Amino acid sequence: MIKKSSIFLTGGSGLLALNWFSLKKQDYSIFLGLNERIINLKDSNIIFINFDSVDSFKNQLKIIQPSFVIHAAGLTSVEKCEYNPDLAYQINVELSKLVALVTKELKIPLVHISTDHLFNGESSMLLEEAPTCPINIYGETKASAEKVIMQINPNALIIRTNFYAWGTTYRKSFSDYIIESLRKKEVICLFDDVYYTPILAEKLIETVHELLHKKAIGVFNIVSDDRISKYNFGILIAEEFGLDKSLIHRSTLKDKPNLVRRPVDMSLSNKKVKDLIGKNLGTVKQHIAKLHQQEIEGKIQEIQLL
Ligand SMILES: NC(=O)c1ccc[n+]([C@@H]2O[C@H](COP(=O)([O-])OP(=O)(O)OC[C@H]3O[C@@H](n4cnc5c(N)ncnc54)[C@H](OP(=O)(O)O)[C@@H]3O)[C@@H](O)[C@H]2O)c1
Repeated sequence: MIKKSSIFLTGGSGLLALNWFSLKKQDYSIFLGLNERIINLKDSNIIFINFDSVDSFKNQLKIIQPSFVIHAAGLTSVEKCEYNPDLAYQINVELSKLVALVTKELKIPLVHISTDHLFNGESSMLLEEAPTCPINIYGETKASAEKVIMQINPNALIIRTNFYAWGTTYRKSFSDYIIESLRKKEVICLFDDVYYTPILAEKLIETVHELLHKKAIGVFNIVSDDRISKYNFGILIAEEFGLDKSLIHRSTLKDKPNLVRRPVDMSLSNKKVKDLIGKNLGTVKQHIAKLHQQEIEGKIQEIQLL
């Protein structure tokens, strides 16, 4: 029997890593690197990551010998980062540095998952060359992580994105929130002055694999083809899932002065990746249809039950 190549994911209990597992477990041996949360998932390899030192993490990777490492661990709550900047720096920057050092030394290709939260929100559909200009601690730490990784490991692939997918009982995505609320007939308020280019995690993951196949390095925006407001994202979900869109009310970020400052436009251009792989990544509407199809096919139940 041919031995499958393996993938090591940090942030193994998180939204993205679990969707990676679900999508790629037939083709790869998936190692989910955990921190605190314990999960039990058939066919996965669960490893508690030892980030105590470069050597301890290095020894773990030496044993596993993954074909590549996906660094998806992070402190992802904008609020938690703002109120715990040291912790945000420790998790988002220092851990990324350690992962970059070890993968560089062991010559294992690294994919670092960055964000669309790196700019001040005054421009739309930004390209990869745009200088970063974060306006909150989450964005600052993610921008610093990119710089540190590029210095240490210039062969890393850095992915700027914003994704949604079916989540777990303990980690809901934005689409879960909308679908669950509307199914319970609850009114929700979504910002119609905040724009982004969200992508379905499945499409994000497939595109990262295409880039790895092409041995791409450097920064790539992997996002949907079109820019949309959070409000209109909710409306598209309601339409696709046959839910009552009158339950979605418009709200505005500018009327929420107590929220941690956020960019009002996070949209990124996917031109660079499109030119390299020679095809469109798809529209938000197409991706939402795929999200619905995933539910109908029941492929994501193992994640939803966690
Ligand atoms: N979700 C989005 O739409 C979005 C958008 C843009 C970018 N991103 C980026 O994409 C990546 C994945 O996001 P996600 O939404 O899948 O994350 P998530 O669901 O919030 O999961 C974060 C993961 O990081 C782990 N983690 C936290 N602190 C850690 C530590 N000290 N050591 C090791 N692991 C630690 C968590 O494990 P424990 O729970 O056990 O601590 C968890 O597995 C992140 O880098 C995020 O910044 C996400």
